[in-house]
Amino acid sequence: MKSILLPSNYYLNDTVFDSFFPDKLRKISKIHWTPLAISKKAALFLAPTPGSKILDIGSGVGKFCITAAHFFPDSEFHGVEQREDLHNVALQAQQRSGVNNVQFINCNFTQLNLDIYDSIYFYNSFAENLINVARIDESVDYSPGLYTYYSNYLFRALDNKPVGTRLVTYHGYDHEIPTGYKIVDQDERKPLKMWIRK
Ligand SMILES: C[S@@+](CC[C@H](N)C(=O)[O-])C[C@H]1O[C@@H](n2cnc3c(N)ncnc32)[C@H](O)[C@@H]1O
Repeated sequence: MKSILLPSNYYLNDTVFDSFFPDKLRKISKIHWTPLAISKKAALFLAPTPGSKILDIGSGVGKFCITAAHFFPDSEFHGVEQREDLHNVALQAQQRSGVNNVQFINCNFTQLNLDIYDSIYFYNSFAENLINVARIDESVDYSPGLYTYYSNYLFRALDNKPVGTRLVTYHGYDHEIPTGYKIVDQDERKPLKMWIRK
């Protein structure tokens, strides 16, 4: 894949990275898309060995996956996103970034086989069902019932994963992570937590 000429600080400065997104999506970046430094730190933990396969549950415009893939070119990053327009923006971002170790999938995460992934990245994606301010848009249904359904689904999928599975949560609620997962590192100033299934 051929990349366009990007500014030298593209992966270092959030304002520069975000400037390539359409206005509406750039303006909500601080709330909805993972900052570059957080993505890099999370990916360092999620891709401990070459060949690691990582899933971002709710990949939005692709900021986490693309940044992670740039810094860890020997691992594979998949992002699943329910909104088709965001999925398309992520594909465009991938094209201009020139990373080829990323795959974006447009569906609900419940339609995906989560067993094939070594590690999971989760930026509190289901909270949009509970918090009715600063929503991305009104293109999907929101309800507390959906929040519970998705959270329980992810809980069961995580619980079924083998010992050694790595998980990073950014924001989110600890009680929704199965007790088999232990926090091994965290940055409390930024609500970033690294977990391993013991
Ligand atoms: C907080 S944003 C995070 C975006 C991206 N992971 C990042 O860090 O930059 C959460 C995303 O999850 C998506 N999402 C929410 N529920 C989903 C579901 N059930 N299946 C797939 N995507 C979902 C939303 O559409 C939104 O784009």
